[in-house]
Amino acid sequence: MSELAKPVLPGTAGSDYERYLRTEELLALQKTAGEWVHRDELLFQSVHQTSEIWLKLAWNEVEEAARLVGDDDIPAALRLLRRANDCFKLVTLALDMLEHMSPWEYTEVRKVLGHGSGFDSPGFKELRRVGKLLGEQFRAAYERAGLSLVEVYTQGREHEDLYNLAEQCIELDERVTVWRVRHFKVVQRTIGGDVIGTQGTPVEVMGRLIHHSFFPELWDVRNELTQMNLPE
Ligand code: HEM
Repeated sequence: MSELAKPVLPGTAGSDYERYLRTEELLALQKTAGEWVHRDELLFQSVHQTSEIWLKLAWNEVEEAARLVGDDDIPAALRLLRRANDCFKLVTLALDMLEHMSPWEYTEVRKVLGHGSGFDSPGFKELRRVGKLLGEQFRAAYERAGLSLVEVYTQGREHEDLYNLAEQCIELDERVTVWRVRHFKVVQRTIGGDVIGTQGTPVEVMGRLIHHSFFPELWDVRNELTQMNLPE
């Protein structure tokens, strides 16, 4: 074995690739074939576990972006918000995989989920927290600049950073909503729209969350802008 192929990082795995990425632990986090009630458990766990990792990256980036906005370093915040928004593209795309499961066979998987529910997703819980934080910091930033939200848009060319920040915030809101719409359809397609979830929430009630937004004022301001400049 050449010197460069020999592992130098701490750990017991055979290569630095496995040691650094902790692949032994990572790949032991899914049930083994002997533990499955249905082989689709691997698909189901893979989609959920990878989604939790992307959500972890997303909320960490949003939290740091909020801090940077507080320090008036908007360009650095924008870099991180773009990443967080792309995380949502990935978790939304991952939902496609779940539609490869047969609704009848999924009833077997569902039996081993206990009271497990997406409402307890750590990634989404943190996102709700940092989303609020970002909204507060964004508001404080345009107020420090002596602007109203309408002016962030009407004077967007003079305040490029604040304008781009507003657009990245609404992008985050939209991406979460797009995820919710896809999730709702996946749920409806898999277990039906007129049943209750593993924690007792009717699917239909969960679907109403599609109308929730982190930054409602960013949606409302569009109405104001349109009203301000109606065609003659
Ligand atoms: C076949 C796949 C899935 C089914 C049948 C399903 C089902 C459900 C149901 C019924 C609810 C309502 C709460 C309850 O359980 O009573 C819910 C909520 C939720 N689920 Fe799923 N889910 C699936 C996949 C996923 C995936 C991959 C994620 C990714 C992390 C996820 C995250 C969530 C979240 C965050 C909520 C809370 C509602 C929200 O914030 O919009 N679910 N899910």
